[in-house]
Amino acid sequence: MKKRVGVAILGLGVVGGGTYKTLVSHRDFYLKTQNVDIVVESVLDKNRERLQELGVPEECIANSIAEVVTNPAIDIVIETIGGVGIAKEFVMAALKEGKSVVTANKEMISKCSHELERIAKRNCCGLYYEASCVGGVPIIRTLLDGVQANHITEMMGIVNGTTNYILTKMAQEGKDYAEALKEAQSLGYAEFDPTNDVEGFDSTYKLSILSSMAFHTKVPYTKVSREGISTISAQDIANGQDLGYTMKLLAIAKNSEAGVEVRVHPTFIPSEHPLAGVNDAYNAVYLRGDALDDIMLYGKGAGAFPTASAVVSDVIYAATHSEIKYSTYKNTAAAEGDVKFISNFSSAYYMRLFVEDKTGVLAKICGIFSKFGISIVKIMQKGNTRNENGRLPVIIITHKTNENSVKNATAKINASGLGTVEAVIRVEA
Ligand code: HSE
Repeated sequence: MKKRVGVAILGLGVVGGGTYKTLVSHRDFYLKTQNVDIVVESVLDKNRERLQELGVPEECIANSIAEVVTNPAIDIVIETIGGVGIAKEFVMAALKEGKSVVTANKEMISKCSHELERIAKRNCCGLYYEASCVGGVPIIRTLLDGVQANHITEMMGIVNGTTNYILTKMAQEGKDYAEALKEAQSLGYAEFDPTNDVEGFDSTYKLSILSSMAFHTKVPYTKVSREGISTISAQDIANGQDLGYTMKLLAIAKNSEAGVEVRVHPTFIPSEHPLAGVNDAYNAVYLRGDALDDIMLYGKGAGAFPTASAVVSDVIYAATHSEIKYSTYKNTAAAEGDVKFISNFSSAYYMRLFVEDKTGVLAKICGIFSKFGISIVKIMQKGNTRNENGRLPVIIITHKTNENSVKNATAKINASGLGTVEAVIRVEA
């Protein structure tokens, strides 16, 4: 017998609208292929124009969250509002009434999944969030049902399309950051206030969700070390290209006996690395498992229909699976007490300096590196364009060292009068 499942959609913005259209246009297809009749029973959005534009029938328009969550015809509530205010309030109301929730909300899941999951468990309903990370790319289902045979030891992802678009334009067209950002805004990739994307918050939320799942331990978003792309110069991107590197904003998670390392920052990767070819607004996640070796998932990380694809796949999953699965780890606000987070992580580094043009200056700077145990792979003068103080540009590539040593060496050089460190970029092999 065909199963009938009623859904409600909260918020008909870009993703909610794409979800509504997908559910309505594919209803017969899901009936035929999944043996389930998914019916949009109700939508909640204050914007009447938007409701009209999408052709939502009058009888499906709800006036309040209470009306939605007390409707016995609704089994699953889809939240596509975003943020943690009203969205969290509505999701909690739905879970308390025993409705399973499907959400695209990375900030809410990253910050509050422990609270929401507790309510879901108590009320025997599910909480699904494939669309919260990497849009249409099924990374969460892959972690849950595809690679669970493995100890995942490493994950590196380009999980934010806006920043990837900006960095691609800077690399391919030599645009500076402000120009590339403006273009991303005019195309609708970047928001009017781009902080959430360009300063790495969006990637941080996603990395906290994905690494918790990959490593089966809670990784609070506050443990993710974060640096955005707003201070990156086209010059450094071009210098990296000359050295065989491509710059990406990477979300990196590593799990070893030494501890868990989670960080988001602009990174140089070898230009032949699979992630280096992920351009424009595309996303990709590269995973390493002990049995699997490496895999990479690639696709659109944002947009109405790619994200709706993830939302609807969760709806279908929830509608066709009676057993509800929750986190494989202890989902609490804080990390488990015995998990060590490594903030002084190891990496190779690219450093750009302006140095005094005097005999012995480079020897003294190399002495500072040596004092902090940093071994240099390459040191080169890059062009003859002096800065306003008459200093010359020098690039240094280090062997693997650690974050604190580089910070200490940078402070020492800046205080020495020998030169200034203008840029520090981590290099991943
Ligand atoms: N703003 C995000 C991005 C999409 O640029 O990738 C939603 O997470």
